Amino acid sequence: MRTAVVVGSGAREHALAWGLTRDGVRVVVTPGNAGIEAAGIECTTASPLDIDADLYVIGPEVPLVAGLADHLRSRGKVVFGPGADGAALEGSKAYMKEFLASANVATASFGSFDDAESALKFVRTMSPPYVIKTDGLAAGKGVLVTNSLQEAEADIADKISGSAFGPAGSTVVIEEGLKGVECSLLVISDGKKALPLIPARDHKRVGDGDTGPNTGGMGAFAPLDLDDATLRVTMSTIIEPTMRELSRRGIDFRGVLYAGLMLTDSGPQLLEYNVRFGDPETEVIIPLLSCDLFDLLDSAARGDLATTPTFLPAHAVTVVLAAAGYPEAPRRGDIISGLDSHGQLELPLPNVTVFHAGTERDPDGNFVTAGGRVLAVTAVASSLDEARRLAYTAQSQISFDGKVLRSDIALGD
Ligand code: AMP
Ligand code: GLY
Repeated sequence: MRTAVVVGSGAREHALAWGLTRDGVRVVVTPGNAGIEAAGIECTTASPLDIDADLYVIGPEVPLVAGLADHLRSRGKVVFGPGADGAALEGSKAYMKEFLASANVATASFGSFDDAESALKFVRTMSPPYVIKTDGLAAGKGVLVTNSLQEAEADIADKISGSAFGPAGSTVVIEEGLKGVECSLLVISDGKKALPLIPARDHKRVGDGDTGPNTGGMGAFAPLDLDDATLRVTMSTIIEPTMRELSRRGIDFRGVLYAGLMLTDSGPQLLEYNVRFGDPETEVIIPLLSCDLFDLLDSAARGDLATTPTFLPAHAVTVVLAAAGYPEAPRRGDIISGLDSHGQLELPLPNVTVFHAGTERDPDGNFVTAGGRVLAVTAVASSLDEARRLAYTAQSQISFDGKVLRSDIALGD
């Protein structure tokens, strides 16, 4: 039997482990979470370096940036996920922007600063919306987009002083504000070629109508209706130049490259690269995958991408349920009702899966909130509307005090 280790503890890792298990793979997740374990998938706190498996899939950016894939490869393991050199594309936005400039990839113009005075001078030359980003990792929360110059100036001061994000924030990237519709295009790379998965959209702001602060993502849907011409242009003007630049720099990128795109009037532009599966995009992409997930990841990890990703002719919507106080100060310990002992809906609905993110069990065996994003409730159906209705019907069966969710996931563009 094929075996895989999945590294991480969120709903993305639950979806990856679920997809691999569905294909008959024996999966161990480290560290995993209470819901993954309840689904009958082995979870352990052991280091991935101490577990033997045919394939290692690294979910989150933090271990990738820290070089976990390099450590595993140096021991001869087959790893899906870039080494620290490739992961730097996500680890530092200033590095990513420099990389994009050498690759000649369309992206917002920018300046990168570590002193407040030059940053403030620069932002005053820009026009709204002002976009202020922390250089380092900030769990999706380090970006401010605002029309208020005053707010932008205050944010720069907070970030550079280290009071907002510590050292991750003390260098800021200030960008030209782009207008258009957003799209997450994830491509699987074996270091030489890259094949796209279905395009998806996530909803990053916490509130309905894209209001409030940015979060890790409040919900997603796939496929996004992207025409073939736009996909081709994205591949030829963004992804392929990136692959060439990676190879020019001697970076053997085996994993998933996630392009956050803004589709503007003048063509697709790259907002950012992530070097891992998106969360919550994974919770809608994996349930629609119709090829073998292990073969796809394994062949990329071996440097010989043989499987072309294929998808069901269906639609998926996921609605994230977050803890009270998310994203600023999520509360832990609220009892979750509506789930059975496997962590799925007590009253099952066909084609609905509950992926667990921040959950644990209390001493009585109840699932309780244990992180910002708590659950991602995914529904698959033959139309987007139906998938959306089903996901919302399913989530309404789940309750906990202070549950935070958006009511407009997958609604309109
Ligand atoms: P990022 O983490 O860089 O993807 O930024 C988070 C979100 O901020 C994106 O999904 C966009 O909604 C928004 N954003 C980032 N950069 C820009 C930009 N240059 N122009 C307009 N919106 C942006
Ligand atoms: N969905 C946004 C991210 O994974 O970064």
